[in-house]
Amino acid sequence: MKLRLPFYLCMGLLVATTTSCNNHEQKNAASIGIAKADFGEVDGKKVFLYTLTNSKGNQVKITNYGGIVTSWTSPDKQGKRSDILLGYDSLSGYLAHPPYFGALIGRYGNRIANGKFTLDSVVYTLATNNGKNHLHGGNKGFDKVVWDAATVNDSTPTLLLSYVSKDGEEGYPGTLRVKVRYHYTNDDALEIEYWAETDKATPVNLTNHCYFNLTGDVSNTILDHRLWIDADHYTPVDTTLIPTGEIKAVKGTPFDFTQAEKIGARIASVPGGYDHNFVLNKKDTAVSLAASLSDSTSGRKLEVFTMEPGLQFYSGNFLDGSLKTSIGKAINQHTGLCLETQHFPDSPNEPSFPSTILRPGKQYHSITRYKLSVQ
Ligand code: GLA
Repeated sequence: MKLRLPFYLCMGLLVATTTSCNNHEQKNAASIGIAKADFGEVDGKKVFLYTLTNSKGNQVKITNYGGIVTSWTSPDKQGKRSDILLGYDSLSGYLAHPPYFGALIGRYGNRIANGKFTLDSVVYTLATNNGKNHLHGGNKGFDKVVWDAATVNDSTPTLLLSYVSKDGEEGYPGTLRVKVRYHYTNDDALEIEYWAETDKATPVNLTNHCYFNLTGDVSNTILDHRLWIDADHYTPVDTTLIPTGEIKAVKGTPFDFTQAEKIGARIASVPGGYDHNFVLNKKDTAVSLAASLSDSTSGRKLEVFTMEPGLQFYSGNFLDGSLKTSIGKAINQHTGLCLETQHFPDSPNEPSFPSTILRPGKQYHSITRYKLSVQ
């Protein structure tokens, strides 16, 4: 379903279709649609786990706590289904705050240097939760709040999440009204559509932090996955992972993924591993192919389409085996990777980067689609 209607009108229409679908959805939990189950409680609010099942019987599970995608179960080339995401099957796993597993990220995805920026001559101070920097929205970003949820069952399962971020939350100016629509298609694409409106100028940079492991088994690293990124440039960073402001050519560096390459091939020459923003070659805001990831053992391929100008490729460097999966397997370094579509890190302090400032009367709107297939 293409949404080109004004923000609130369109959300109103979608929510209006909700009630008529719910009974049907709940009776046919295993069939196409959405099943809703209790998942616990946070901040005195009920948390649910939504299972989105498409016509192939493949499933994506999402909770309204942090808008977290907890699992995505799909078949490999032998037809064997397994989960391609790092995640937990109970809320307690998430309350231990794993590093943003599957979560919605906001108000600002990635880092803002020293937790400070100046906007319209006012200096704003944000929560610093990553050394001296602000990361992924601060101490209690959008990944740690309970979102309001509504289910929709048009031709394919859709979950609508909304959250009102208060003026001053984590130091940001303005009340920000955010809506996110997760839509799971019959051709195995998870589409994430974001909208936001504010009553004061504020930086906004929303993304999702799914960790993929296309082998479907966290015992394997992602180092043999092959990655292609449609980016001739990237943004180099300082030792605290803040961009230096330079837009550097990838040619002749380990950041050149313009031809598909194994992630492990050159990672040893990237200090700390990949955790960098790639400047996508796209010149407009059309939803276009930005990256492609494949794993030859399972035959799975993941394509990333986005409207965003940047892509953070994070190779799971900080995973260190201390976290365990729900069945007790250690989540070791490089056993999951993120492809976070975004505007560039620290844009509020880098006037040459595409602007992330949302002003009253304007609408933030962005679409990212993760599409799975088997080769
Ligand atoms: C992002 C950041 C990384 C790290 C992870 C979470 O991808 O760029 O540096 O903070 O999130 O661990």
